[in-house]
Amino acid sequence: MIRLNILQLLYAGCLFLLMTGNIRAQPQLIRPGAIWLDDRGKPIQAHGGGILKFGDTYYWFGEDRSEGLDRSKRYVACYASTDLAHWTFRNQVVKLADPENLGRGWVLERPKVFYNAPTKKFVMYAHLDDSRYQLASVAVLTCDTVDGDYHYLKSFRPLGHESRDIGQFVDDDGTAYLIFEDRPFGFRIATLSADYLNVGKQVCLIPEHMEGGAIVHYDGLYYAIGSALTGWNPNPNQYATATNLAGPWSEFKDIAPPEANTYGAQSTMLLKVTGTRATTVIFMGDMWRPREQWDSRYVWMPLRIGGGKLWLPPPAPWTLDIKTGEAVITGTNSVPEK
Ligand code: DGJ
Repeated sequence: MIRLNILQLLYAGCLFLLMTGNIRAQPQLIRPGAIWLDDRGKPIQAHGGGILKFGDTYYWFGEDRSEGLDRSKRYVACYASTDLAHWTFRNQVVKLADPENLGRGWVLERPKVFYNAPTKKFVMYAHLDDSRYQLASVAVLTCDTVDGDYHYLKSFRPLGHESRDIGQFVDDDGTAYLIFEDRPFGFRIATLSADYLNVGKQVCLIPEHMEGGAIVHYDGLYYAIGSALTGWNPNPNQYATATNLAGPWSEFKDIAPPEANTYGAQSTMLLKVTGTRATTVIFMGDMWRPREQWDSRYVWMPLRIGGGKLWLPPPAPWTLDIKTGEAVITGTNSVPEK
């Protein structure tokens, strides 16, 4: 009886502390390589994705490769989160029929959403292509709300160049950039027009044969990351640094032991989370399963970064305190053998 009362007291005390904010609930583990479920208990479908932070909410957009979808259409899903660990499904924001008569196997990949403050429009860029990847263009879609239905506007080759994998980068001063892979020249960084519906001007061509391009601005330095051109197969992703986006860029170096092939992942974005005590840069990568695309996984890991060096630790479960910005790696390798 007495024991029960003590337990009840402890329970009430904890509840009080939680409600008054004096202790915080344990942050949710992020498990790289594991199936990541949304609020409905369904695996998150946001492959080749990007993140837009709007207000205090993070929106994750990516390719929806769910089984059973209409094979003639392409889909983009949108999820929302305030802690980057729990994700609520918001909408299948793109359900697009072949917009340019590209034929069977047409491609809509790597969607990235920017918010354009002057027009109050959400502008999505995506890689648009035919099944042989010869069109090499970007598609532009827009929406008045972050998670509404995006409408196809147009497609074009940015600045007349071939464009396959795209990446998004918004600098600390709010300037938005599109990163695009222009084979055989390298990857290009370009500004967007004032309304974001066009590409503005080229800032840099990094003459490396890389895709999955992503950039972060951390502690006064730009870090660019990318993968080699090996289709759906993983390869050693690499990074370079520059004090100016326009370059010069350093030589590219491995982000992990090359034999680990980026732990089976391919870069899609570098996400900076600045908290009250720390700044964490998250490597967001895709672990593709080309024959079972719906079961492709995500490798998100906090990077070791600073002083011109960047390193991807072996994937393991970790937590992020979104308020303080602190990341804690809690376990050992979590990537399933395949
Ligand atoms: C690698 C790219 O990064 C992916 O987005 C996809 O286009 C595959 N190639 C297709 O092989």
